Amino acid sequence: MELNGKVAIITGAARGVAKGVAAAFVKAGANVVIVDRDQELGQKAEAQLGEHGNVAFVAMDLCRHEELPAIIDLAIGRFGKLDVLVNAAQASRQLRLDETSVEDARIAFDTGFWPTFILMKAAYPYLVKTRGSVINFGSGVGFTGAPTQASYAAAKEAIRAISKVATNEWGPDGVRVNVICPFANSEGVQAWAEYDPQGYARQIDNVALRRIGDCETDIGAAAVFLASDAASYITGQTLMVDGGQTKTN
Ligand SMILES: NC(=O)c1ccc[n+]([C@@H]2O[C@H](COP(=O)([O-])OP(=O)(O)OC[C@H]3O[C@@H](n4cnc5c(N)ncnc54)[C@H](O)[C@@H]3O)[C@@H](O)[C@H]2O)c1
Repeated sequence: MELNGKVAIITGAARGVAKGVAAAFVKAGANVVIVDRDQELGQKAEAQLGEHGNVAFVAMDLCRHEELPAIIDLAIGRFGKLDVLVNAAQASRQLRLDETSVEDARIAFDTGFWPTFILMKAAYPYLVKTRGSVINFGSGVGFTGAPTQASYAAAKEAIRAISKVATNEWGPDGVRVNVICPFANSEGVQAWAEYDPQGYARQIDNVALRRIGDCETDIGAAAVFLASDAASYITGQTLMVDGGQTKTN
């Protein structure tokens, strides 16, 4: 599976899963624009991944919704086209539903859902030109309803919902839209494992393969497949790349 010459934008890629996806994309031959609000880690990722190919880092807080279309313009200006949009940036507060305020819930939507919505709209005319694709990030907690994840689960399921609508609307143009729900050893998951080691151990027990995924070689590899011509007849799907944790059908 090759992405030779394809141009991708990947949000949230200063660290974690999206950085792994960016690494896999660059090594598969893609030119990559990584976007993150963490300037220090973003520049570090740009330097590391830049050893394998063309990588441009854009420092941006995706909560600044009116500025987001500039990301697409920047990718077009730098690389001349857009083949793949990967929406992975996400933040949220973990609270019981009865303790979650509207302001708490807004964090999940402002960092995850609205950037996905806005960037998909801004990318669409360019994806039509390349018959490109979108890969959005959902979560197994949207299926399982894990406690303390109300706003996160809601934002993730809203992302899956617009992905399905876009699949039907954009399919006739040859633009594909898929969702990955990962389980992987990101910095975010590492922090949670330190905070709640018993919860983490229980989660690993629920993984059929009994190990946590690798951001690049497990999740990145699946994303490369979905972005590649090998997946040219796959759209509207949610791929659980979680070691068999969530069985959806
Ligand atoms: N890691 C997992 O096991 C897992 C499980 C289910 C779903 N996911 C999903 O996969 C994606 C990546 O997860 P992760 O574990 O690597 O997360 P992470 O918390 O380790 O990294 C998230 C990245 O997004 C960036 N980000 C957050 N809000 C931003 C904003 N407003 N503007 C710009 N950048 C912002 C952060 O700076 C960070 O670099 C997310 O969509 C997450 O919901 C991950």
